Amino acid sequence: MDLKINSFEEYQEKYQQSVEDPEGFWGEVAQSFYWRKPWKKTLEWDFNEANIKWFKGGKLNITENCLDRHLAENGNTPAIIWEPNNPDESTVTLTYKVLHQRVCRFANVLKKHGAKKGDRICIYMPMIPELAIAVLACARIGAVHSVVFGGFSSQSIADRINDAECNIVVTSDGSYRGNKEIPLKSTVDDALIQCPSVQKVIVSTRTRTPVSMLKGRDCWWEDEEKSVSGDCPAEEMDAEDMLFILYTSGSTGKPKGVVHTTGGYMVYAAYTFQNVFQYQPGQVHFCTADIGWITGHSYIVYGPLASGATSLMFEGVPTYPDAGRFWDVVEKYKVNVLYTAPTAIRSLMGFGTGFIDGKDLSSLTTLGSVGEPINEEAWHWYDDNIGKNKCPIVDTWWQTETGGIMISPIAGITPTKPGYATLPLPGVQPVLVDEQGQEIEGNDVSGNLCIKFPWPGIIRTTYGDHERCRQTYFSTYKGMYFTGDGCLRDADGYYRITGRVDDVINVSGHRIGTAEVENAINMHLGVVESAVVGYPHDVKGQGIYAYVICEKTPADADLTRKDILATVTRIIGPIAKPDKIQFVSGLPKTRSGKIMRRILRKVAEGETSNLGDISTLLDPAVVEEIKSGAL
Ligand code: PRX
Repeated sequence: MDLKINSFEEYQEKYQQSVEDPEGFWGEVAQSFYWRKPWKKTLEWDFNEANIKWFKGGKLNITENCLDRHLAENGNTPAIIWEPNNPDESTVTLTYKVLHQRVCRFANVLKKHGAKKGDRICIYMPMIPELAIAVLACARIGAVHSVVFGGFSSQSIADRINDAECNIVVTSDGSYRGNKEIPLKSTVDDALIQCPSVQKVIVSTRTRTPVSMLKGRDCWWEDEEKSVSGDCPAEEMDAEDMLFILYTSGSTGKPKGVVHTTGGYMVYAAYTFQNVFQYQPGQVHFCTADIGWITGHSYIVYGPLASGATSLMFEGVPTYPDAGRFWDVVEKYKVNVLYTAPTAIRSLMGFGTGFIDGKDLSSLTTLGSVGEPINEEAWHWYDDNIGKNKCPIVDTWWQTETGGIMISPIAGITPTKPGYATLPLPGVQPVLVDEQGQEIEGNDVSGNLCIKFPWPGIIRTTYGDHERCRQTYFSTYKGMYFTGDGCLRDADGYYRITGRVDDVINVSGHRIGTAEVENAINMHLGVVESAVVGYPHDVKGQGIYAYVICEKTPADADLTRKDILATVTRIIGPIAKPDKIQFVSGLPKTRSGKIMRRILRKVAEGETSNLGDISTLLDPAVVEEIKSGAL
């Protein structure tokens, strides 16, 4: 069955149907996948308890949908095209047939090392084909993958491994990013000192940097592949069996393991992929995200492969060897769909259009944006210089927790408006609510964005702590899923996401919890307390501004700043490094000891003239000091 919507009228009809009869709507969509046994009940849900089940009783394996079912007719179609960091190195194309073989073989490697259905496996790898293979091999045998982005520190890896009690880690010796070589295996080794659950580490070769290999625990991917059969029947999974865990930051210190299950996630990732991008068979889809984030899970691996598409996987960075790299890749592979983040667009804008001149971008049909609000200037630059005013831009709003795109234009079908994610996809019922939890009806209004009805890709739980899932997403507003985002609905009913309303900052499209950064800073010798807020940043969207109280005034402030950055890098990773650190002697606290972040945010934004009411502060004098020392 073709899942694609073909006109705006059809979108409106489907949307209506999806609201009036969600079960009928999604039941029909789900028919187009391969199920070993049909489901008995399409939807069972209770937002108060955070219990959501889609396609209950249905049996399937997602890899049969992503691989096996394409073999007969499309076995020779490229499934994954891989472009290495260094453009002079050879590229790799894996057809569906070859990808199937490699996934089956590696699935048997996992089995040989004791992996079984339900086990959690941590994957910490560069953007090489083996990463996608490892992900799919887990799914093949029913093991739950937990991919950790290759930029996270050993401490972050250890926290994630321990939270999920992973028994196997799949990694690489190292990774290449631009002109840097990053040691991955040694970072894993450091992590594993704290991880008693891990029995085996499987290492694929990428940089061939020297690594220590522990007898009995570590083995080489390439050697192991030779010792197993290439035949691996897929494990039969229940629609609600766990598919993966992906950790993401929230308002509290500890990242949470967002859990997605098999059936609903598959249906949602593929449905949104085919519709939003209007993917046509034979096209090349280039999503520039890393598989370590949800965007890579849904729109490099599962969505495209479940749709029989060709997915381009890029190992490098947009500015290496120069700022024309994306355009070289588009030209080289005749990319049709380019899906990237506003931060990348803004950074490339800074290099001017010289790197675009002379590059053939005529293959492009659709441009996508994800991860953070896209400012109008970047939207127009993307439209004018990359899409040449001929490619629709889909500004896709969604989250790790939503599994797939929620509010977005359908390419070429929904009229777009710069800065707007436009309209909800079929099956998505957004509502704006005020502080009291009242739904705000009508248009030309703004409020907190909630979703009032489940969709198949919705988060099922936070690993090991269901109550946390209930509290975080389903308790703020009764009977609704709360997104954590602020949003406005304009006179035309179009949605524009205005940013997080909680203590989460979005740096270069990556979610970082302020509490997480504060905890890391506070671990530094001599730091007494800190407070972290976001502030507008030209390229990153938001930057991280830290106010830090030290025991003693630092003798060399610059050096202490660098030391603190080193500590944050060690505890979380370079992505969480503050852009600015201001040393202060106190923080603006209320009498009950709560930090008034509103004031800190204003100072960080450079808006010191109107700080609002500060009379409730315990010591209003600290505000003057903070203002005068603002960076
Ligand atoms: O604040 C929203 C922002 O990114 C958050 C979700 O981050 P994460 O779970 O890491 O997933 C990112 C990729 C899906 C959201 O709560 N966000 C995401 N897309 C947009 C966006 N903000 C505005 N416009 C978007 N298109």
